[in-house]
Amino acid sequence: MKIVETIAALRSTLKNVQHIAFVPTMGNLHAGHLALVEKAKKKSDFVVVSIFVNPLQFLPSEDFNQYPRSMEADCKLLRSLDVDLVFAPDEKNLFPVQQEILLQLPAVADTLEGIFRPRFFQGVATIVLKFFNIIQPDIAIFGKKDYQQLHIIRLMVQQLNFPIKILDTEIIRAADGLALSSRNQYLNGPERQEACHLYQALNTIVGETASGQRDFLLLEKKAVEYLSGRGWQVDYISIVNRQTLLPACTDDQQLAVLAAARIGTTRLIDNVEFTC
Ligand code: PAJ
Repeated sequence: MKIVETIAALRSTLKNVQHIAFVPTMGNLHAGHLALVEKAKKKSDFVVVSIFVNPLQFLPSEDFNQYPRSMEADCKLLRSLDVDLVFAPDEKNLFPVQQEILLQLPAVADTLEGIFRPRFFQGVATIVLKFFNIIQPDIAIFGKKDYQQLHIIRLMVQQLNFPIKILDTEIIRAADGLALSSRNQYLNGPERQEACHLYQALNTIVGETASGQRDFLLLEKKAVEYLSGRGWQVDYISIVNRQTLLPACTDDQQLAVLAAARIGTTRLIDNVEFTC
């Protein structure tokens, strides 16, 4: 496994490589990331994983400095999965000048996460676009954990005519249901125990729709009340149409419920797809 830190070194390594599968990450890898890498290995004979904590997608008030970095352990894991190349660019190499050109995104980027993290998706899409230009993969793989991110990347690839196939993977969860996330390590003992209730609240919504409940606003409100009553600060719990991420209508069938909530100082996101 080769580890490169510059675009020049990356390009020279990839010069004669065909059929690249690419997995973008911010490092601090866990089983959720590794599922993406395993899928990449199955789909292509050359796998590139990027590790880069992207400053463009953090607000000044967010955890850019605190975000866990564990390059050595990450590389060990990736080596054990037989990854071909790790791209861990130096910030100055990736941003030789200030990144003034930023992607302008459609309205869906200003909903859900976009309400609470303004310009977050602009930062994500811009860095992913840079990586796509630099690496020129055939396939890129993203997790459903970041449901809205996946949706926006698909729109970007479609609308900017990238010849890249976007694949997704299911959410990998801990035994109690908590979706794995690098940010889970911010949770203290009692918060970690409480954290699985976010997933439980989403499953309650899915269960009630399966029993015929179609008042989505009521279901969202009850879930917010449930979590607030347990000490959470809920940013949103939204039942959406899977194709558009717009609020679900009563006759929509392919749905997902997306949520973001804070327990203590840690903000968690999660989602569940379901069919009505
Ligand atoms: P990061 O949070 O490191 O996640 C990298 C990829 O792993 C994303 O596609 C994410 O959806 C996926 N992932 C994370 N936890 C997962 C889980 N529990 N199950 C399945 N997949 C999971 O997402 C980013 O980084 C950044 O925004 C990035 C795309 C790299 C751009 O900077």
